Amino acid sequence: MSDRIEQLADQMTLEEKVSILSGEDFWSVPAIPRLGIGKLRVTDGPNGARGGGSLIGGVKSASFPVGIALGATWNVELVKEIGAALADEVKSKNAHMLLAPTVNIHRSVTNGRNFECYSEDPVLSGELAVAYIVGLQGQGIGATIKHFAGNESEIERTTISSEIDERALREIYLIPFEWAVKKAQTWGVMSSYNRLNGTFTSEHDWLLTDVLRNEWGYDGIVMSDWFGSHSTAETVNAGLELEMPGPPRDRGQKLVDAVKSGAVSEATLRERVINMLRLMERVGSLDDHRPFEEKADDRPEHRALIRRAGAEAAVLLKNNGALPLKGDGSIAVIGPNARIAQIMGGGSAQLNAHYRVTPWQGLVNAVGEDRLSYAAGCTNHRFEPVLRGGFKVEYFANQTLSGEPAHVAMQDEAQAFWIGHIADGKVDPLHFSARLTGTFTPETSGIHRVGIYSAGFAKVFVDGKLVADAWTNWTKGRTFFEEGCDEVVGTIQLEAGRAHEVVIEFATKDFATLGLAAFAAGIGLPLDDAAITEAVRAARNADTAIVFVGRNGEWDTEGSDLPSIDLPGRQNELVAAIANANPNTIVVLQTGGPVEMPWIGSVAALIQAWYPGQEAGNAIADVLVGAAEPSGRLPQTFPVRWADNPAHSQDKEVYPGLEGKVRYEEGIFVGYRHYDKLGLTPLFPFGFGLGYTSFAVSDLTIADDEFEAEGNLTVGVTVTNTGSREGSAVVQLYVSDDASSDPRPAKELKAFSKVALKPGESAQVTMGLDARAFAFFRTQAKHWLVEDGTFTIRVGLSSADLPLSAQVTRKTTLMLPV
Ligand code: BGC
Repeated sequence: MSDRIEQLADQMTLEEKVSILSGEDFWSVPAIPRLGIGKLRVTDGPNGARGGGSLIGGVKSASFPVGIALGATWNVELVKEIGAALADEVKSKNAHMLLAPTVNIHRSVTNGRNFECYSEDPVLSGELAVAYIVGLQGQGIGATIKHFAGNESEIERTTISSEIDERALREIYLIPFEWAVKKAQTWGVMSSYNRLNGTFTSEHDWLLTDVLRNEWGYDGIVMSDWFGSHSTAETVNAGLELEMPGPPRDRGQKLVDAVKSGAVSEATLRERVINMLRLMERVGSLDDHRPFEEKADDRPEHRALIRRAGAEAAVLLKNNGALPLKGDGSIAVIGPNARIAQIMGGGSAQLNAHYRVTPWQGLVNAVGEDRLSYAAGCTNHRFEPVLRGGFKVEYFANQTLSGEPAHVAMQDEAQAFWIGHIADGKVDPLHFSARLTGTFTPETSGIHRVGIYSAGFAKVFVDGKLVADAWTNWTKGRTFFEEGCDEVVGTIQLEAGRAHEVVIEFATKDFATLGLAAFAAGIGLPLDDAAITEAVRAARNADTAIVFVGRNGEWDTEGSDLPSIDLPGRQNELVAAIANANPNTIVVLQTGGPVEMPWIGSVAALIQAWYPGQEAGNAIADVLVGAAEPSGRLPQTFPVRWADNPAHSQDKEVYPGLEGKVRYEEGIFVGYRHYDKLGLTPLFPFGFGLGYTSFAVSDLTIADDEFEAEGNLTVGVTVTNTGSREGSAVVQLYVSDDASSDPRPAKELKAFSKVALKPGESAQVTMGLDARAFAFFRTQAKHWLVEDGTFTIRVGLSSADLPLSAQVTRKTTLMLPV
């Protein structure tokens, strides 16, 4: 630590010290001009840097593949490169820290935020988190790994207590954080919203001080998740440096008083301040006095990187030879995701992308429009499509739309996410009302659905008639981070070509946890049987049918979990009908996790393309035509049925939670560990993915098959490209403890390596295992134990394809400290 930091801390008054322990506004920590201390700015990630505005609109940014897509690349070098590119993006938004990566574990297949997180496996998550942070921080931008810890579901996330036993925490949920601290020296950690075993993580002494600082040696800062701090002295004493966002609610004068009364000691306060100053020095904000200015920085090298990463994330799950596309035959492009670019999930990770390439456009670019025909078939949205067009917005400085408007503005869509400074500062963002007026001109006559959901009260009038009312009977639902109601839908007959007047009235209401006002209003014409019939006709008339199905960021989103893992709407019916009409049916699935696939036996090929960022359509087309290889491997087990998933239970406390608790009953048996334990065969196993070539592993060598417990083990294996195209293999190494005093998973991923090989080429892969790779955690004794005896090392190309194995013997027992 520099002397300067100590000196600054010495010079600061109590009030100044307290001032940098809370945000000033949504995205910054205040400057202290008297001491020349600049403002620290943060911006949301993880799949880009959104910048300092609202969640909707704002300055444009590069949109990278989402977390689960990076998880599917199994490529640490690529993720490091992405981390470095994200640093450029953060700089373009004039910020110093990225609120990323997100490393919560895929416990339930229905978690709304799994798309943002890498994997069900702690080692894969941990390795990728380290790469991301090293890439980012190597360019001077701070990482804020989140959400620490136990935030594996979005249900009642700001209050629920995740009941997790210590062994599961240590062996599964904490690993990515531990590695981020120990191997990547992360500068920031964000506490989660939830409670952990009864205590909010933002005031969890054991988590923030005993584990994070004392055991792991962390010297960065911990910031609360937004509005996730609930106390003054407790959070400061437990180890939370920063309350976010600002202005302060729990700190400010309350903290000054707490120090004066002795509830927080001067020494503790100083420690928090020193940690903040150290961070400011690391990220350069201490001396950053530039005026705030954000810009859109659309770089060709970012475009290329995103396209490459998007293709690399794609997982080929089935292929009977239909892919890559051959010849110059006609292609029917079908499905709700064909002409809408699904590039990211929803919630705080969303951003205003520079552009969005649809699969249709990607295919037009790759094969030319002449070969293509199109039919939507059905829809897959959760909410009616947001109304677009010019809307006049009148803001009132009261909650009753009375009197003269305090401010009038225009906006181009019927949705808003009002936080911070709004309406030119003329209204209080938590106490105001607004009226939006615009028009909607339908393309087709018919009975339209009009939908509204809002964090606040809202109503939609069409041609003066109240059609959707989320005001009179507003009830809490699963939108806007659980501050909003579920969508309220009404219907109305509308005429093609006529400009129908649409008026939306909105008023703020008291909020539960997050201080925000928001709404979204949409109008849609439901697709009926005729749309499926038309798609079937298109499929019949083409040589190949490609069906683009899945979900979107309305489903895969922060703030709500999925109701099931069925494809929404009539998509299963659509896929089955198309496969029936054309034997050459290829499915491209875009979701943030698995879906049940009743049609899997009847399709020719299936690609899981996730949400790959702004180049989505190009990346997908690259894979379809074979310009790039789908070299992704599943970072999450795809079960046959939702019911097979470890968190699926008749006991509501196990999932989704009951009376304020969600009990992680399965303990360490998460993901493939669970399927192995129960002997369940998944639809597609963890680590699985085909490619356009084939690989074989051979010659497993182990340096020494008998060694002392503390010794490291080096495992060698040869991997050969046995096919006729260039491609990448992901060599995976799993360890099994042959006899253990405590129950252990049948196998656990402990190392992996991605290797690109030309046809016929072989490479020698070396993977190292340290003592921890053999250990399990003993809760009573509070140590990691490596028992003596034999272990089996298995190596192969997925968790269900491990042809090579060898036994090693540990001659002695070893206890490793926490
Ligand atoms: C999310 C965080 C995010 C923060 C700021 C919260 O709702 O949980 O991941 O960084 O908002 O947008």
